[in-house]
Amino acid sequence: MAEKKKLSREEAKKRIEELRELINYHNYRYYVLDSPEITDEEYDQLFRELVELEEMYPEFVTPDSPTQRVGAPPRKEFGEVRHSIPMLSLQDARNEDELREFDARVKRQLGLPPDADVEYMAEPKFDGLSCEIVYENGRYVLASTRGDGVVGEDVTPNVRTIKSVPMRLLNPPDLPIPARIEVRGEVLMRKDEFEKLNMELAKRGERTFANPRNAAAGSLRQLDPNITAQRRLDFVAWGIGVVEGIEFKKQSEILEALEKYGFKASRPRKACRNIDEVIQYYRQMEQERESFVYELDGIVVKVNNLELHDKLGQTSRSPRWAIAGKFAPRQKTTKIIDVVYSVGRSGAITPVAILEPVEIGGVTVSRATLHNFDFVKMMDVRIGDTVIVQRAGDVIPEIVTVIKEKRTGKEKPIEPPEKCPVCGADVVKEGAYYRCVNISCPARLVQSIIHFASRKAMDIEGIGEKTARLFVERGLVKDLADIFYLKKSDILALPGFAEKSAQNLIEAIEKAKKDVPLWRFLYAIGIPNVGEYTAKVLAEKFGTFERLKNASYTELLSIEGIGPEIARSIVEFFREPRNIQVIEKMFKAGLTLKEAETREVKESPFAGKTVVFTGALSSMTRDRARELVESLGGRVSNSVSRKTDLVVVGENPGSKFRRAQELGVKTINEDGFLEMLRQAGVEV
Ligand code: IVH
Repeated sequence: MAEKKKLSREEAKKRIEELRELINYHNYRYYVLDSPEITDEEYDQLFRELVELEEMYPEFVTPDSPTQRVGAPPRKEFGEVRHSIPMLSLQDARNEDELREFDARVKRQLGLPPDADVEYMAEPKFDGLSCEIVYENGRYVLASTRGDGVVGEDVTPNVRTIKSVPMRLLNPPDLPIPARIEVRGEVLMRKDEFEKLNMELAKRGERTFANPRNAAAGSLRQLDPNITAQRRLDFVAWGIGVVEGIEFKKQSEILEALEKYGFKASRPRKACRNIDEVIQYYRQMEQERESFVYELDGIVVKVNNLELHDKLGQTSRSPRWAIAGKFAPRQKTTKIIDVVYSVGRSGAITPVAILEPVEIGGVTVSRATLHNFDFVKMMDVRIGDTVIVQRAGDVIPEIVTVIKEKRTGKEKPIEPPEKCPVCGADVVKEGAYYRCVNISCPARLVQSIIHFASRKAMDIEGIGEKTARLFVERGLVKDLADIFYLKKSDILALPGFAEKSAQNLIEAIEKAKKDVPLWRFLYAIGIPNVGEYTAKVLAEKFGTFERLKNASYTELLSIEGIGPEIARSIVEFFREPRNIQVIEKMFKAGLTLKEAETREVKESPFAGKTVVFTGALSSMTRDRARELVESLGGRVSNSVSRKTDLVVVGENPGSKFRRAQELGVKTINEDGFLEMLRQAGVEV
C-alpha cells in the first residue's frame, strides 16, 4: 500500500477507476451469482485501497462508487418520481380455470381461433415491493418505488445499498449499453434474512415484521438509508420501462439481457408453448413454493411476443397481455378462543391456541401453535385476540400477526402452567421452554409412541394419536418395548377395534419388528436432537447398533454434521440404564435390525470435500495442511462460499470465519482437524 503515496493525481484517478471495476465485478460474483472468485480478505483489501484513495482525492468520489453503498445521510422526506411509463398492476387468476379464461381472452382479442397456441413467459410472482431503477449510459442514477403507479417515492440512496443492484451495468459483448434503461423488479428480503431480522428486533424489544414483504418495504422506505444498508435486501428484475436504442422482441429476451447487464432476473422461468405448459408450471411452482429462498405468492404469465403487447393494450389498471396466477392463500384472520398446553416427547410444554375454526387451503384450522412462552411474550398474544393464522405445507398452523387494533380490553394474558397439565408434576423453565420434570409423564409416553410408530420411524400402520392414548390410559404400554408385547386380546378390548382391525394391527407390529433399517430404529427411539438426517449419518458411519451405542463423545464429534450438542445427547442417551433396558426388551421380543453398510473405516473424511483454512495453525504450515487434505482426496479453496464443506479455524482467524458462520458452513479448530487426519490414518 505504501507505493500508493507515490501515485500522481492522474495515476490515482486511473487506479480508482480500476478498483471500482474490480470491486463491482467481485460484488456481482458474490451477490448476484453467489460464486465468489476471491477471498473476503482480498476483497476487503481492494475496498480499503479505494477508500483511502478517495479520501486522498475526494474530488474523484462519484455516487456510483462501491464505497457509497454503505449508507447516506438521512433525509426529511422522500422526493417524488414520475414514472415515464406507468407501473401498472396485474389482474389475478385464482385457479387453473381462470388462467385458461385468460388464454381464451387473449386469443379472442388477437382474433385467433380457440385452438391456436400463444407463447407465454411464465415467471415466479415475487412477494416484495416493486421498484424502478434508471441507468443512464450504464450508470445507476435513480430508483423509485411504484407509489400509485404514476408517481413513486425517490429511494435512490436506499436502493444503492442493495448489493445485488449494479451501480454500473456489465458490458456484454453482444448488447449495447443503452443511453437510458428503466429496470423494473422486486425488492425482496430472503426468508432466512427475515427470520434473522425479526429475532434481532425482538431481542432489542422492537416491533417485528409480519412477513418478508413488510420487512422489505419497511427496510426500503427509510428516510435514513443507513438503516436500509443494515438490512440485507435483494433485487430481482422482471421487466423494463423505457429503453433507448435496443429493440427487444420477446419478454424472454428482456430477461436474458437483464442478466447480461448484471441483474438477477426472474428464475426459475419457463417459456411455455401454450397454456397447458403454463398450467404445468403453475402446479409445479405451487408444490415447490416452500423451498424457494424468497416468498412467492403466485406466478406471472406474460404473452412472450412483445408486438402482441401493443395489439392487446391495457385497461386503466392492468395490461391485457399478462396475468398473475395466484396461489391459494395460506393466511386467514380468526380469533383465539382459548389456550391449552400440549406436552411433547421431551416433556416440553407447548402452548396451543384454540381458534374459531377457519378454512385455509381446503383444510379447517382450529388450533395453532404458540411455540413457547418467549414467543407468547414477544407477540404479546392474548386469549380473545384477533389474529392472522398461516398454514404452509405440512407444518403446524401458526400465528403470524396479532391485530392489536381489534382489542376490546377483555383479552386475557397467557400464563405458563405451574404444574404439568397432564400428570400434575412440577414444571421447570429451560430457556424458552417449560418442561414437565416427570420422565414417566403419560403425555410424553403417548407422544413417544406416536413418533415410534410413525411412517419415517418404525412405520407401524394403525397406531395414531387415539390408539397411543388408549394404550397408555389402559396401562397396556408403559414403555416403548411394550408395543412388541401387545396381544390380540389386549387390542380387541379397546374401543373402536374389532376382530379384523385388531388382527391387522398385530400383523403390522410383527412386520415392523423384522429387519428394520438401522437409521429408522435410531430415529424411532427418540434420542434427543437426532432427526432423520442425523440418524442416517450415524447408521452409515457406525453400521451396527452395538458400535454406535459404545461410541465416545470425541468419536461422534469427529463426524461431519455432528456437533457438540448432538454428540452429547447421544452419549447421554446410551448412558441412561432405563433406555438400555427398554431397547434390550425390544430385542428380546424379536426385533431385528438390518445393519447398514458402513463406509470403509479407513476411508478419508476429506474425500470430495472442499476445505478452507483461516488463521494460523500451530502444528504445521498451511502448505503442509493443504498437501495432506489433497492427498486425502479433498480440495483446498481460498474463499468460503455455500459450497464449502469445512472451514478449519486456526489462531487469529480472518473474515472467512465470520463468513462461514454467516453461511452456516461447518467450522472446526486445529484439534478437530488433527483428529480428522488421525481418523484418516495420518500420524500427526
Ligand atoms: S410483471 C404490468 N413479473 O406483482 C405489471 N410483476 O400484482 C407487470 N411482481 O406490481 C408486472 N413478480 O410488483 C411482474 N415476475 C413478475 C413479478 C411481478 C412480482 C409484482 C410487481 C407488480 C405486482 C402486480
